Amino acid sequence: MTATEATIDLSPPPPSLFAVTTPLYYVNALPHVGSAYTTMAVDALGRFHRLQGRAVLTITGTDEHGQKIERTAQDRGKSPQEHCDEIVSGFTDLWQKLNIRYDRFIRTTDPRHHAIVEDFFQRVLASGDIYSGKQQGWYCVSCEEFKEERELTEDHHCLIHPNKMAEWRDEENYFFRLSNYQSALESFYAEHPDFIQPVSRRNEVLAFVERGLQDFSISRVNVDWGFPLPNDPKHTIYVWFDALLGYLTALLEPGAEPTIENALKHWWPVNCHVIGKDILRFHAIYWPAMLMSAGLPIPHRLFGHGFLTKDGQKMGKSLGNTLDPVALIERYGSDAVRYYFLKEIEFGRDGDFNETRFINIVNADLANDLGNLLNRTIKMAHKYCGGTVPALASAGGNDPLMALGVVLGDRTARAYESLALHEACQGVLALAQAGNKYLDDQAPWTKFKQGDQVAVEHILYAVLESVRLAAYWLSPIVPRLSSTIYAQLGFAIDFDRVGLDSVLGEQLAGHGVWGALTAGQPLAEPQPVFQKLELPVAV
Ligand code: MSP
Repeated sequence: MTATEATIDLSPPPPSLFAVTTPLYYVNALPHVGSAYTTMAVDALGRFHRLQGRAVLTITGTDEHGQKIERTAQDRGKSPQEHCDEIVSGFTDLWQKLNIRYDRFIRTTDPRHHAIVEDFFQRVLASGDIYSGKQQGWYCVSCEEFKEERELTEDHHCLIHPNKMAEWRDEENYFFRLSNYQSALESFYAEHPDFIQPVSRRNEVLAFVERGLQDFSISRVNVDWGFPLPNDPKHTIYVWFDALLGYLTALLEPGAEPTIENALKHWWPVNCHVIGKDILRFHAIYWPAMLMSAGLPIPHRLFGHGFLTKDGQKMGKSLGNTLDPVALIERYGSDAVRYYFLKEIEFGRDGDFNETRFINIVNADLANDLGNLLNRTIKMAHKYCGGTVPALASAGGNDPLMALGVVLGDRTARAYESLALHEACQGVLALAQAGNKYLDDQAPWTKFKQGDQVAVEHILYAVLESVRLAAYWLSPIVPRLSSTIYAQLGFAIDFDRVGLDSVLGEQLAGHGVWGALTAGQPLAEPQPVFQKLELPVAV
């Protein structure tokens, strides 16, 4: 056992805990919809696991060092720190507007992070994995990455940032011996086939590793905005080496001494890093190798989602083709924005944004299929059943709606577990659509005229219970709408507080399965739960 292993608790956290991270966002500009996309997904995942009764830690933050930020600050006539401080509030404001719940927000300029980076660096140095050498190559400042010729256009523009020319570098740097970890990484991927998801990203990584890993430089001589290298302060630490360690710093309890030992006490290894596909290599190759070198366990899972595109090209700050999430939320509300991106784009694939389509989808699903179904059923419950939840006539027998409702919970939970967020939404929506069909087929208004009160009550119960179940399982995606639906059904439940309030946990016990509505519960006066969206009128 090495000295490192002796001081650190390497045992995994129990399954009752779930920790998940967003990437740490560059603060070269205010956040855009692409940045919001990962964060919405992570928030939804965190909320799902809280709903399952787990203790959850959601981590986000900002990546503030490096040449890209240094240059942006310079262009704005600000000191780098002043620049970062200004932009960071743009992120926290957006998370609030988007109704994102995060437990930790780590800034890489935090002095505690400096201590963690130094501690980690010393471990890697002690493993003999750092040496000085000559670095030559094409560097994309927007990616903060050296590029191979095949990753550039003929005139050396980056494929991800076609408006940016890569810069030739020829300098003395310190290197990390990634090549030492070729076979250890290959064995790790083979033993942990679920580590990189979806499978297409795993294959991409395996193909890259198979071509042979090269050492990468972890210091810069021409960049001042970064932590000095502990063994040679003329250099600063490469921004990616620094940023990945933010995932460890974020785990420190407030007030705890910033050591790796303390950072790893409760939550490491985290369950999942959610990232975009452009930063897969750093997370799937560099990061595990760095952790192996430092003698630390590797996270359980990495999920690389696709890009939000505009006219087919990655939406990005460097390209300047972004969509302002704040304007979108102010116009349409946070639930609509969250729902559209998480339901409409298969998580893992690219997806384009189009405002008309956005409005059509949200109106069709949330205002019509779900909201309108609830509204007309509650109106009928007031008219035919005295404004309380009616009773189911029988255990359900071959009731088609109930048959769908009974299997919804397990299916949806599996979808969330595997990060198929779009599938979770689709399953729930299918229940709402079946509810509409059921109501039309069963025509309780006719049965009421015929005096068949038992049948009327049965039908209305089945529809109300379906909408409740849909609201419950959609709550990680549209928490506010779910709380409003619950209020219509006579519950005082704030889905934003799940996991914070033990009484709420007890109230929601058993709500993931069919049958939680109890007959006789008073229903609220019918109110539309979701206002239809409209395109702004052109002036
Ligand atoms: N700072 C690094 C991450 C360090 S993590 C230790 C970084 N930052 S970033 O701000 O450029 O990107 C952060 C995340 O936003 C990445 O996962 C990236 O894929 C994602 N997105 C940026 N633009 C995007 C789209 N247009 N669409 C979807 N996600 C996008 O990389």
